[in-house]
Amino acid sequence: MKTSIAIIGAGPAGLLLSQLLHLRGVANVVLERQSRAYVLSRIRAGVLESTSVDVLRAAGLGERMDREGHPHNGMRIAWAGRDSFYVDSGQVLGRPFMTYGQTQVQEDLFAAADARGQAVLHGVEDVTLHGIDSATPHVEFSHGGERQQLACDYIVGCDGFHGPSRKAMPAGVLREYEKVYPFGWLGIMARVKPLEDVTYAYHPRGCALASRRNDHLGRFYIQVPLEDKVEDWPDERFWPEFKARFPAELAAQIEEGPSIEKSIAPLRSFVAEPMSHGRLFLAGDAAHIVPPTGAKGLNLAVSDVHYLSRALGAHYNDGNGALLRDYSDTALRRVWSSVRTSWYLTNLLHSYPASTDFDRRAQEHELAYLQSSPRAQAALAEQYAGLPLDT
Ligand code: APR
Ligand code: PHB
Repeated sequence: MKTSIAIIGAGPAGLLLSQLLHLRGVANVVLERQSRAYVLSRIRAGVLESTSVDVLRAAGLGERMDREGHPHNGMRIAWAGRDSFYVDSGQVLGRPFMTYGQTQVQEDLFAAADARGQAVLHGVEDVTLHGIDSATPHVEFSHGGERQQLACDYIVGCDGFHGPSRKAMPAGVLREYEKVYPFGWLGIMARVKPLEDVTYAYHPRGCALASRRNDHLGRFYIQVPLEDKVEDWPDERFWPEFKARFPAELAAQIEEGPSIEKSIAPLRSFVAEPMSHGRLFLAGDAAHIVPPTGAKGLNLAVSDVHYLSRALGAHYNDGNGALLRDYSDTALRRVWSSVRTSWYLTNLLHSYPASTDFDRRAQEHELAYLQSSPRAQAALAEQYAGLPLDT
């Protein structure tokens, strides 16, 4: 087999890259370890920055998103029983961000791949990368019981944090930056009417977040100790704990209902630099992980593949390799900006097991300052709802 671009991974990064390359006339093949049903069963965050909405619309993926997604002109922060405040991003950016589940984005991406007859191979095993320092790289993998080779011009690793692509970089090339937070998030989905706004709560008991998928489906999270298991959190324990972290006025608006999904994820920040070497490029979770506070993971996957598809298009269609050479630096500027925002929000909104009285007072003052300062809110609004993509 031969193609121009071998894409490893059919998550949002891999499939959106495939679609954007198709629109620029660049041939590609996507290799995915899991079945389509498995990929679609993963539940992830659901906030699209206004810039991500633009990229998805321009990729021809806007139809259902614009019908079913919910536009927001701001998000809400509540803390320790006090009145909540609204961070008015619409006023700062002049346009809304959107809640629309990553699962739905993933469904739309598969539908678009089907519509254009895209080669997406599921169930590939033992993917290995070869010749990334040469002009003739290739990928080897097992499929249908046979070892196969895919020759290509470039390999793009969109294979998530645990995939083989980042590990295929030669020793000494990568520098990795990591922060592991001392807590996890328990998330549930429930068929209830959600709060109108995406609402984050800080409370000495821990962070909580009320989000939504649609008018009848809510997504709710609480900070939990790292050791906790899903079995420790039956619904009868979840809902009182969730509500206890919101001010009374908001708690009274929260509808309870049986969970239809429940999972726990640890919180981590991670960045690998550079995001390219030789004929290999990394995009999405393969290169960086953010904690869910701020929902930046999907948005970074979108901005990475926006930059990369533009650069590959310039290379193939105009013979201009400058954007491709700059890909890592360009992508990393936005990555660090979102890594910083999610780190800031995580510190702002969580209760740290080892924090001192001093730490807590400083954190509460930061919240008080944010509540009282339109300028501080404007800075957060810009970073939360849609930093521009540089042109
Ligand atoms: N071979 C082939 N495919 C692989 C391999 C492998 N060895 N290892 C992993 N993959 C696939 C995974 O099965 C998954 O479908 O790569 C895909 C990576 O997808 P995601 O983990 O969704 O990552 P990405 O596309 O970068 O999207 C980032 O998704 O992980 C969330 O929170 C994250 O919202 C963010 C977004
Ligand atoms: C979600 O809707 O699942 C969501 C929203 C905001 C976050 C994280 C997750 O910060």
